[in-house]
Amino acid sequence: MKKGDLYFPGKEFKKRAWLKDKSIYKKAEKNPVKFWEELAKELKWSKKWTEVFSHKPPYFEWFKNGKINITENALDENLKKRGEKPALIWEPELTEEKAKILTYKELSKEVNKFANALKKLGVKKGNRVGIYLPMIPEVIIAMLACARIGAVHTLVFSAFSPAALKIRLQDTEAKILITADGYYRRGKVINLKENADAGIEETKVEKVIVVKRAKNEIFWEERRDIWWDEVIENQPDFCQPEIMDSEDLLFILYTSGSTGKPKGCEHTCGGYAVQAKFTGKWIFDWKEDDIFWSMADIGWITGHTYNCYSPLLNGVTFLIFEGAPDWPTPHRWAEIIEKYGVTVFYTAPTAIRMFEKYNGKISESYKFETLRLLGSVGEPFDEAAWQWYFEKIGKKRCPIVDTWWQTETGGILITSLPGIGPFKPSFTGLAFPGVKVDILDDRGKSVRAGKEGNLVLLPPFAPGLFRGIYKNPQKYLETYWTQYGEKIYFTSDAALHDKNGLIRIVGRVDDVIKVAGHRITTGELESAISLHEDITECAVIGKKDEIKGEVPVAFIVSKKTKKPVEQIKKEVIEEIRKEIGPIALPKEVYLVEDLPKTRSGKIMRRILKRLFTGEDLGDLSTLSNPQSVEEVKKVIGL
Ligand code: PRX
Repeated sequence: MKKGDLYFPGKEFKKRAWLKDKSIYKKAEKNPVKFWEELAKELKWSKKWTEVFSHKPPYFEWFKNGKINITENALDENLKKRGEKPALIWEPELTEEKAKILTYKELSKEVNKFANALKKLGVKKGNRVGIYLPMIPEVIIAMLACARIGAVHTLVFSAFSPAALKIRLQDTEAKILITADGYYRRGKVINLKENADAGIEETKVEKVIVVKRAKNEIFWEERRDIWWDEVIENQPDFCQPEIMDSEDLLFILYTSGSTGKPKGCEHTCGGYAVQAKFTGKWIFDWKEDDIFWSMADIGWITGHTYNCYSPLLNGVTFLIFEGAPDWPTPHRWAEIIEKYGVTVFYTAPTAIRMFEKYNGKISESYKFETLRLLGSVGEPFDEAAWQWYFEKIGKKRCPIVDTWWQTETGGILITSLPGIGPFKPSFTGLAFPGVKVDILDDRGKSVRAGKEGNLVLLPPFAPGLFRGIYKNPQKYLETYWTQYGEKIYFTSDAALHDKNGLIRIVGRVDDVIKVAGHRITTGELESAISLHEDITECAVIGKKDEIKGEVPVAFIVSKKTKKPVEQIKKEVIEEIRKEIGPIALPKEVYLVEDLPKTRSGKIMRRILKRLFTGEDLGDLSTLSNPQSVEEVKKVIGL
């Protein structure tokens, strides 16, 4: 393929696809509210809504007064048609350990039992429950059990540090935490319980439910800790689903905020269920015989929506994997695809670049005959990685859906539809039917083709878009609804479109960096570094990286330290590991005398960034300390 070429789905693919005619876009555009209403009717509601979409800017509601329980749709509805069909395949990290397969019936039974167990522990509708679990079946069971009884789950990525866990537990005031003794990561046992014990200090957690996974030795607090197996013992197989209002909270998921404090995104029951169901069905084009594997961790929004709710709402078989895709061999991921006959595979550009680098050749010996559709998410998908994915994994046969969305949006909002296309490398595609987007310049005018601007969502947004930041309405307003007023959702992404309207995501316009697809703000890294007593000032920027897309680079100033440079750098890295976790570690830490600042004392991160990109530094005479730039240049070896 040449640069700029368009690709369309093959005849065979198109023939079977749910959507093959682009008239769907027009139909949805005419009346998006009605369009979503028709889709909502395909779910089971215990009471119909009285109003489909109501809007009091910046607040909005979907399916007002409708009553629904997402687990009735995800589990009970499937029991009638496909009770014996595998719902969940779990591949453990250790190759010698047996995989687990849970049918819809078995999964439903486990969820109901655990839901009853939670009830017995006193968990009620609206209570928040913390879940700090790795990729094991119990994480799915725990989420669904919460949803069954109307408790609000808050997952915390298992590689997050105790400090990161603590902030989330404090904010949600969860009284229950569900965790595990340990789990496997690259052949080592990670003592998760130890992190959980530290994370619950100074929180309201009263009970800790512990899954026995790695059988490692752990500390046990008799009055507080209970084994998962013991809580579910003798619990009945059925738990009446709690009737939830469409706008009741389903879960809170934290994402990076501009300060050190993460933001709790509030997702609600009805709208989220509708969007999760239909984005999965149409974008991954699921059929009864598909086996879907999304590589994301359940601790991120991709995990919530496409490793749990969406496939279940569609009666699909999906796979979750405990380990790292390149362990014990660099091609473990390829073996998993072949072992289970995965048909639809969803991953991030970082993983694709890593596969290419470490097993560009190996992948040629895999035929991947079962694959029929590929997906990508989380970061800009460069043309080279796209081509490699298309040729070597998809064998030029599989359409690629590059999907744009955010923790806030709950489900995919921009992509090419697989049975319609076109697919254009480095472009994500069009807004999903029923979703209105625009790209605006700073004055709020739509940009012309080829010109960059700010990507925004227009009313009626999408049913799954989050409704607020937990306990922080001010931040919700400031972050999303001030740039262009209260009727336009500001995504914080820069984008452009081509003459056909296909959208390319350029990247964030705020201080978020995407490290291997993980969302981190430079602000939260700086807050962590500032906790080190010898650091007087610091600045973190994102630097382009061949594999991870971007990596953080930290500049630190330490006026008083007597420690050797290498020692202080190590301590700074440790501080980040302790406050956030290993995913956020900076690639480089530079100790400098001073940081470039404006006369009013603002650190000029833009200049630091440009030193790496080679862009023009601009007028340095406005700085209060232009000499600092020369020093920084020397330190970074320019
Ligand atoms: O910058 C965009 C980038 O990821 C951000 C959202 O991150 P997060 O909330 O962690 O959710 C990621 C998974 C849904 C966006 O603001 N992003 C997401 N998908 C894409 C993307 N950038 C380019 N292309 C994408 N397909």
